[in-house]
Amino acid sequence: MIGNDLGRRLKKWGGTARRLKWKRTLTVRRYPVRKLHKIIQCSYVLLLTSSVLVAAPQDTVSEETLEFFQGQCASCHTIGGGRLGGPDLKGATDRREADWLARFIRDPQGVIESGDPYALKILSEANGVVMPTLAGIDAKLAEKLVNLIRVESALEKSHFEGMKFDDRALTDADIERGRSLFLGLTSFENGAPACASCHALAGLAGFGGGTLGPDLTSAYGRLEGRKALSAWLTSPPSAVMQPVFKGHSLESEEILGLVAAMKDAAESGIGETESSTLSFILSGIGLAAGLMVLFDGFWRKRFRSVRRTLVENS
Ligand code: HEC
Ligand code: HEC
Repeated sequence: MIGNDLGRRLKKWGGTARRLKWKRTLTVRRYPVRKLHKIIQCSYVLLLTSSVLVAAPQDTVSEETLEFFQGQCASCHTIGGGRLGGPDLKGATDRREADWLARFIRDPQGVIESGDPYALKILSEANGVVMPTLAGIDAKLAEKLVNLIRVESALEKSHFEGMKFDDRALTDADIERGRSLFLGLTSFENGAPACASCHALAGLAGFGGGTLGPDLTSAYGRLEGRKALSAWLTSPPSAVMQPVFKGHSLESEEILGLVAAMKDAAESGIGETESSTLSFILSGIGLAAGLMVLFDGFWRKRFRSVRRTLVENS
């Protein structure tokens, strides 16, 4: 599976951190040991561990920050692996100052709207796609992310060099498999919901698809092709999809099929269905009506019981 290697590394680092902590506790507990050489040995270990800990903040990145980047940023950015939806971040800390980058990470839209020339330049290189403002990034986390970019950029081979996607030629069988997954005729290995419950895709016979998400007929071009779309689907940076796909990630073979089906749809010459606009409006009305009925029932009961108690009390 994709990201397995990173997962293994993260686990290994976690293990080392735990061992270090364990050693420290052990040393402190053993401090009043009778034999002098033991004390010396212990202080030596203590000295070693603490020097490691003091040197740490500059050049290491916490497990949480690595995981955050993997989950929230790696679907659009590599570090040293070329551009995806967003620019390759290798060396970003040489291009801009840390403060600027932290500000941009927290509020890309704001920095772009301020007319900052560098922001406008990278915006145009991204075909006008604005980086989304991601929830939950405070000043401290932004600083840690900038530090991560700096540390990973300095590595010869960053952990975020990019996922390795199979780049063999796509076949008709891939397209078929992708369509079947899209429609929910084949289920996803990790239990993700069918794409058609929220999306339409041109060329899927007799079935318009859902309307909560955009029509995906031109998504292949919009998201800049196979590599970027594959990375996008590995951990969808969409406010609606992210919570739904968390813990139900797509397997790389599944992504390959979906990408094949979306590429085929983009090249089919069938436009995004106009009917989807109509069905969007209709389903909107349907949903609103359903909610009204639901809330009506719910509130009527509450209203009555409040009234009843008022009446009884008077
Ligand atoms: C949906 C895709 C997307 C996601 C997710 C995303 N970015 Fe971006 N990012 C972009 C794009 C596109 C740009 C280029 C500027 C623009 O067009 O808004 C960019 C620009 C940047 C830049 C400036 C790059 C440079 O060359 O100076 C940094 C730094 C950055 N992103 C960091 C992050 C971090 C950190 C995260 C995760 C918290 C993240 N991005 C998540 C799309 C994304
Ligand atoms: C629960 C509903 C839901 C499901 C299920 C869902 N999506 Fe989405 N998707 C959305 C929404 C909504 C958006 C628009 C972005 C946003 O608002 O977060 C979106 C955006 C996208 C985009 C970006 C489109 C663009 O042009 O920017 C792609 C690609 C995508 N979805 C692919 C898929 C695929 C493939 C599946 C099935 C594996 C899927 N989605 C399942 C709701 C869903």
